Amino acid sequence: MINIKNLNKHYGDVKVLNNISIDIKKGEIFAIVGHSGAGKSTLMRCINGLEDYSDGSLQVKNKEIKNLKKNELREFRKNIGMIFQHFSLIQRKTVFENVALPMQLWGYSKDEISKKVKDLLSLVGLDEKLQSYPSELSGGQKQRVAIARALTLDPEVLLSDEATSALDPNTTTSILNLLKEINEKLNITIVLVTHEMEVVKQIAQKALLLEHGNIIGFDDTEELFLKPDEKMKEFLGETEVVPEDGVNIKIYFPKDNAFQSFITKMARELDMDFNIVWGKLEEINTHIVGNMVINIKESDKEKVTNYIKEHEIIWEVL
Ligand SMILES: Nc1ncnc2c1ncn2[C@@H]1O[C@H](COP(=O)(O)OP(=O)(O)OP(=O)(O)O)[C@@H](O)[C@H]1O
Ligand SMILES: [Mg+2]
Repeated sequence: MINIKNLNKHYGDVKVLNNISIDIKKGEIFAIVGHSGAGKSTLMRCINGLEDYSDGSLQVKNKEIKNLKKNELREFRKNIGMIFQHFSLIQRKTVFENVALPMQLWGYSKDEISKKVKDLLSLVGLDEKLQSYPSELSGGQKQRVAIARALTLDPEVLLSDEATSALDPNTTTSILNLLKEINEKLNITIVLVTHEMEVVKQIAQKALLLEHGNIIGFDDTEELFLKPDEKMKEFLGETEVVPEDGVNIKIYFPKDNAFQSFITKMARELDMDFNIVWGKLEEINTHIVGNMVINIKESDKEKVTNYIKEHEIIWEVL
């Protein structure tokens, strides 16, 4: 759906995107993650043709964006909805009028507009707020209006730039659930920019980590969190404190792996004691994944590692 190859982008002499290559599949929920200034919004604006790129290729549905002519670009953007952190609603227009706007600009009939706007406002759970003004809505409701507006022209792609950054955690979750629902019901590809790992965990199937315009990680979300490499650990701010004595073994538990039972079974079958240094379980994309560090005596190392290997568990010695 979106194929980016060796993309570079400069602002003057400053390179803000360096050799980016990613593929985003149709129907995927894809996260672009990074600290402030990493180049997330720039990459997003390249995807919808708002920014030019220096070299490399960026294709959406097999069309190279920088080769599109003005009228083609207009048609192309119709296929891409966008939502932002600060909602960008027009204050003096009602909810209905805000959502109707893109269709009015494209010259749809009143009846078509009315039906579509009502359907979408019902999808986002705002049937009752048609005649309200933005100032009468909560942040979460405003974002729902913005989401409805982004969907009016039946886009195949929805771009979200920090859409939940101004919202509290519960409202964030409800908006993410709505995005998930939209992704499933309407089969819309969603690309979301965020600096919040929680957002990535809750919704994204795949994630790209950007740092100063460079890719520092790109994988299925579960993989990224399950077995983070050094860069990812640094990004998450995780430091691993482990005992100096003995051997520390980190065991990774992929989805659907019965984790507690593995640990207790190992203790029973090997008939030995070990210390659990720390462990954590997380829900990523509705799957439970986790990892655990155990500390064993040097003399037990071979026995334990052999046992783990037999069970095809991912592990490493720290
Ligand atoms: N129009 C511009 N002209 C010059 N430099 C720009 C312009 N827009 C962005 N930049 C620079 O490009 C880099 C990437 O900016 P970008 O807005 O893509 O970051 P971001 O990852 O979205 O950050 P944030 O999380 O703060 O929104 C920054 O160093 C920024 O200063
Ligand atoms: Mg940004």
